[in-house]
Amino acid sequence: MRVLCFGSLNIDHVYQVEQIARAGETVASSGYALFAGGKGANQSAALARAGARVSHAGMVGPDGDWLVDRLAREGVDMEHTRRGTSPTGHAIIQVDRSGENSIVIHTGSNAEIETPLIEAAIDSCKPEDILLLQNEISGINEIIHKAADQGMTICFNPAPFTSGVMDYPNERVHLFILNESEAAGLAGYTGAPDAADPGMLAGQLRDRFPAAEIVITLGAAGALFSGDQTLQVAAPTVEAVDTTGAGDTFIGYFLASRTTGAEPREAMH
Ligand code: RIB
Repeated sequence: MRVLCFGSLNIDHVYQVEQIARAGETVASSGYALFAGGKGANQSAALARAGARVSHAGMVGPDGDWLVDRLAREGVDMEHTRRGTSPTGHAIIQVDRSGENSIVIHTGSNAEIETPLIEAAIDSCKPEDILLLQNEISGINEIIHKAADQGMTICFNPAPFTSGVMDYPNERVHLFILNESEAAGLAGYTGAPDAADPGMLAGQLRDRFPAAEIVITLGAAGALFSGDQTLQVAAPTVEAVDTTGAGDTFIGYFLASRTTGAEPREAMH
């Protein structure tokens, strides 16, 4: 069984700041570093580190060959990542002293995913393979339909959440992994954010997508699974240094564990 992660590759510009800049404010950074990133690439790397067989499909620009090399060194098959003409996608990330972050992305070459690449990548898969998607690339409608027609299991992390997510063929998704605000968006919850109980959101998502399993990540509070059973798993207590990509890492390890036949509780741990 193989996981095809069809997703973004970004160049992450990360700035250490005392406090994340507010509207109208200029803040000085105390540190700067450049990393390989993108939710798709992060999830592919996590899958590979967790021992799964993973192929990454996506687009970089002329400045992005190093991202392809970087993922290949992690053990990710990069046959279906191509080079386009737009600059590689990038992210501007502020990380504050508590490890919280604020991210602006520029899509760049992640918006150049078109039918020939979609067909080549999905035609290379078997029905027992898994498709993993996030919401940082073009072509998502077509990718979901083609993979579902192929009989693949579809796992969707609708991040970052946009109103366009509601127009995807979500009824063909088998597993949603999302954080609380993405869960509220997908469930169509319009109440006060503080009143959105994760169990209630999971219930609303199950009503809307009865065939899908739901995993809601809860940051320091762990994660909640809703499928043929409902359970919540606590997160280990750690000193947060940088939360960037924490959800991506969880997704990669969770999915890798499920591909080995692990039960939800074990995979969530
Ligand atoms: O989830 C973290 C990622 O979001 C970063 O690597 C950044 O590139 C954005 O895609």
